[in-house]
Amino acid sequence: MNLEQILNKEELTREEIIFLLGLTARDEIESLFKKADEVRQQYCGDEVHLRGIIEISNYCDQNCFYCGLREENFNLSRYRMTPEEIIETARLITNFGINTIVLQSGEDHILDTDLIAYIIYSIKQKTDAAITLSLGERGFDEYRTWKIAGADRYLLKHETANPKLYSAYHLKQKLSDRISHLKFLKILGYQIGSGNMIGLPMQTIDDIADDILLCKELDLDMAAIGPFIPSPHTPYRLKKPGDVDLTLKTMAVARLVLKNVHIPATTALATLDEEGRIKGLNVGANVVMPDFTPTPYREQYQIYPDRKCMNDNPLNCRACLQIQIESIGRRISSTRGDSLKLSPQQITNWSFK
Ligand code: 5AD
Ligand code: SF4
Repeated sequence: MNLEQILNKEELTREEIIFLLGLTARDEIESLFKKADEVRQQYCGDEVHLRGIIEISNYCDQNCFYCGLREENFNLSRYRMTPEEIIETARLITNFGINTIVLQSGEDHILDTDLIAYIIYSIKQKTDAAITLSLGERGFDEYRTWKIAGADRYLLKHETANPKLYSAYHLKQKLSDRISHLKFLKILGYQIGSGNMIGLPMQTIDDIADDILLCKELDLDMAAIGPFIPSPHTPYRLKKPGDVDLTLKTMAVARLVLKNVHIPATTALATLDEEGRIKGLNVGANVVMPDFTPTPYREQYQIYPDRKCMNDNPLNCRACLQIQIESIGRRISSTRGDSLKLSPQQITNWSFK
């Protein structure tokens, strides 16, 4: 196959995606990265969107083999933030000029429909920020209630597009259910985010090509692709971490295939590589998701160990990111950074503001 021809095609086949993911020559990989950066420029411009994450609870009813928050990890001390703490943290985030709040947790059903609706509604009363929920697979009625309360987006990663691997990593869950949830969220008017991990045990390059194609089929607004990092006290604690270069190649190919989607430079990538954030932003990413969870909770949200910036003070975070982002000629966006696929009129806002 001819690399230059493939990089200039409007649509890529599965075989071409596999070819690009398998590149090994440094100059060829650099050509892929350069093209992805151009496509990012064309569809997203130079603005980088910040999404402020609040990890509201580390309780989880699931047992994903790769994740440190899994229910059977009895070595983790668990916490749940109070609504007041959450609302106050959301306010702090918007005071930094960050206009998306991500409420993230394990699958924690004690955070029930009404409590989450109350938190969403309260944040919407006090700020103009967009709200992204990342609370795992929940009930269809709950998604509807939270949309009406004012939520804008839902992030639910598919993790792997291979149904056999999906069932190996999640004994109680099915890939088809996860896909149904994402489709239902979209029907409700949520902007939807999904994505996958790179380097999960037993995963092949073909699986990763299918991950990118699934992101396309789901017509995502955001696709998050990050490396797997082995986590202590999980069945996969002794497995190898995902490869940084393969993660970057996947992000670059995802940009070529998906075009007008938001792609974050993930914290997992920044954890494995000191320069991970910048590298990600240079190969197609246009989003960074800094963690604003207050101490002492932030140290307890141990999906994987030694998370980037875990010991830093979130108050310094925006200034630190600004220096990094401006050092590569980009700038922090002051907008909400809504879906690149929707016009302002199409952005459903049911909020009772
Ligand atoms: N390494 C990297 N990312 C992980 N996640 C869970 N466990 C790990 C890990 N060991 C990611 C998954 C999940 C989110 C909670 O964090 O993609 O969706
Ligand atoms: Fe729970 Fe999500 Fe971790 Fe799975 S990946 S154990 S659902 S927090």
